[in-house]
Amino acid sequence: MSIVDLAALGESFTRDPYPVYARLRAQGPVHRVRMPEGGAQAWLVVGYEAGRAALADPRLSKDWSRASPSLPLAAVSSGPHMLRADPPDHTRLRKLVAQEFTARRVEELAPRIQKTADALLDRMLTAPDGRADLVQALSFPLPISVICELLGVPDLDRDSFRTWSNDALGATDPGVRKAAAASMARYIEELVEGKRQRPGDDLMSALIHGAGEDGDRLSHEELVGMAWLLLVAGHETTVNLISNGVLALLTHPDQLAALRADPSLVDAAVEEMLRYDGPVETPTFRFTVDPVEIGGTVIPGGGELVLVAMADANRDPARFPSADRFDISRDARGHVAFGHGIHYCLGAPLARLEARIAIRTLLERCADLTLDIHPAAITWRPGMMIRGPRSLPVRVRR
Ligand code: HEM
Repeated sequence: MSIVDLAALGESFTRDPYPVYARLRAQGPVHRVRMPEGGAQAWLVVGYEAGRAALADPRLSKDWSRASPSLPLAAVSSGPHMLRADPPDHTRLRKLVAQEFTARRVEELAPRIQKTADALLDRMLTAPDGRADLVQALSFPLPISVICELLGVPDLDRDSFRTWSNDALGATDPGVRKAAAASMARYIEELVEGKRQRPGDDLMSALIHGAGEDGDRLSHEELVGMAWLLLVAGHETTVNLISNGVLALLTHPDQLAALRADPSLVDAAVEEMLRYDGPVETPTFRFTVDPVEIGGTVIPGGGELVLVAMADANRDPARFPSADRFDISRDARGHVAFGHGIHYCLGAPLARLEARIAIRTLLERCADLTLDIHPAAITWRPGMMIRGPRSLPVRVRR
């Protein structure tokens, strides 16, 4: 099978990957590709049916020790964690935190999230020229504040952490990725050590000092991995759900008007935002162990990298009629923006709640909200994993 060089497509692929994936989908579900990230070669699964099945395929391992030594993968995360583990390790790690993220538990955070959103919008609306960068003013600080408070690290050095996190996940240069990951690992080690000495009423203290039902407890490395995963999820995902979602509304005035006319549509609107332009374009890596047949193609065993184009699964017209249309009145349920199977996003209830509060409050507080940049001039985050604008200039009026 010939190799599709996605790295050679450069900026245009980063800005709008959807037509490229759609062309591949028209040819079949599995393709050999070269990724923008360090030129690594991967097997890309496109389309809804094949993509959803691959996300939950037990034949594909999430354990990085399975990766072929020939893959140029810079280690980007710290410590062992759920997204790098297969059962039974995965089952054990997930069980230790699952009860903290149930829909009911998360709903208790709503008043705090609302208060934070209100304070951020108060500040955003004081700009004398009525201009703001939505990423800086709302999309970034809201989820970060929430996850830092939950974990008990309110004074996290956000600027440094954001740079490391962005670079570790998205930089195309493997050297930059590795250096950022190392800085982040050192910093998280210090956070965990600090918490060990000064525990509080927070999730990290509970994980350090508490124990699961059967007396189970995280090792030091697992604690670092868990803190890394939760902080990175807080930095990289919901941020882009809010930004991509607002961008979709501002570029589809009829949909914005419909939501303003009936704010109870916000839940459906957030689902459509997740489907239409979700924050995760391709999820974390999966590796073959034995040869695996997917959609008629046999992918060799021995640690080949398999990537699922979730962004394309959510735009497959075989599953979602007129899939390229942003339509908040459609039934977008069934999208795979939070993944599928045993690794289904643990933070989905929290992300949904944050996005609903952010979008509803933004529209309530801003009688007038428009883009302050031509959509084609927006700079997008590099790499195939995370999709979102680096900044989103807007004009606002109360
Ligand atoms: C809109 C926001 C979010 C999106 C689109 C998103 C997306 C995803 C996806 C696609 C996966 C599965 C990855 C894979 O199978 O390779 C995942 C897993 C995960 N997410 Fe999220 N996520 C979001 C927000 C969050 C938040 C706020 C948290 C923090 C609590 C979080 C924590 C996790 C964890 C811990 C996992 C690993 C679950 C496991 O392996 O069992 N996510 N997320």
